[in-house]
Amino acid sequence: MKHPWQRWYKMTHPLPTAVLKGYGVYLPQKILLNADLPPALETSDEWIQQRTGIRQRHIAADSETTSTLAINAARNALENAGIAATSVDLILVATSTPDNTFPSVASKVQHGLQAYQAAAFDVQAVCAGFVYALATANSFIRSGQYKTILVIGAETFSRIVDWQDRSTCVLFGDGAGAFVLQAETTGRKGIINTHLYTNGAHTEMLYTDGGASSGDLVGKVRMNGKEVFKHAVEYMSAAAQHALDEANLTIEEIDWLIPHQANSRIIESVGKRLKIPAEKVVITVDSHANTSAASIPLAFHAAASAGKITAGQKVLLVAMGAGFTWGSAVIQL
Ligand code: UT7
Repeated sequence: MKHPWQRWYKMTHPLPTAVLKGYGVYLPQKILLNADLPPALETSDEWIQQRTGIRQRHIAADSETTSTLAINAARNALENAGIAATSVDLILVATSTPDNTFPSVASKVQHGLQAYQAAAFDVQAVCAGFVYALATANSFIRSGQYKTILVIGAETFSRIVDWQDRSTCVLFGDGAGAFVLQAETTGRKGIINTHLYTNGAHTEMLYTDGGASSGDLVGKVRMNGKEVFKHAVEYMSAAAQHALDEANLTIEEIDWLIPHQANSRIIESVGKRLKIPAEKVVITVDSHANTSAASIPLAFHAAASAGKITAGQKVLLVAMGAGFTWGSAVIQL
């Protein structure tokens, strides 16, 4: 039972809410169709589409890096929000494919945007990275520390897949997506909740076989696909349900489910478990493949720019990646 002055304080000093003010993306120009994959891989368009739903992926040009993709997506998001780069307080970049081991991609984005007043750092939670960065941004806004935050998911997985390994290289693509969040104390819009989870017992199921502290190479993606698939369905369904329960919402009250885009069969299984109609589930894995931390903002942008996602709706984001890391977020738009 709250003391009356506590209730009064809460009413007169509402916690700021993180409101989505704008979004943007960048996809490299080059598209690699399944049919154009090297014959030596001994794969086929039919196999890839049947098992994953992927038709094509974007591949970064030699002149592009994760930071250049991120800067382009950030510029588009700021323009969409009508907010100047000089107003941004914090830049968070979710990525597992930084240009260099250090400095962070976020520092390069800050320079690229000339947003020198902003603090900047990277968040590393692989395919769940965007949800992790969003949760971090939400906490900074709720605490009152920052008002305007740029959250970016940017990846160049084409640089770290083993192009001789058909069981992994066909699955990934490059791209970047960004959200601009801003603190508001009035109105009903904003992030309703976020939930993050980790189970470090399964790091050998999806990893790179190199890294700064374990060799002089960054390594290539290695994966036990079947195990990752099973965990992805289980974890994403549970995280999405937890988000609904905590928000006191039913699945019928959600307008769009925007899951991490790794495999259309994973997405369909999660949708079935949640009992959400397929028409309310955003799928872009067909055209982007798995862009890791960039997949959710890319999917959001595709649905929003097609006029499907609109103001006043509720969206449920959910992702799972290596680590294992996973998480969810509910946003009132
Ligand atoms: O973002 C989180 C990270 N990633 C994921 O969430 C991905 C999770 N896993 C998956 O999406 C699926 O497990 C895959 C798409 C990776 C694989 O699908 P699967 O139905 O689990 O296939 P599988 O690994 O059991 O392989 C079945 C067969 C094998 O041949 P045999 O042993 O049955 O003769 C593979 O060698 O398919 C073969 N195969 C391929 N064939 C043609 C594996 N990759 C390919 C390929 N083209 N690209």
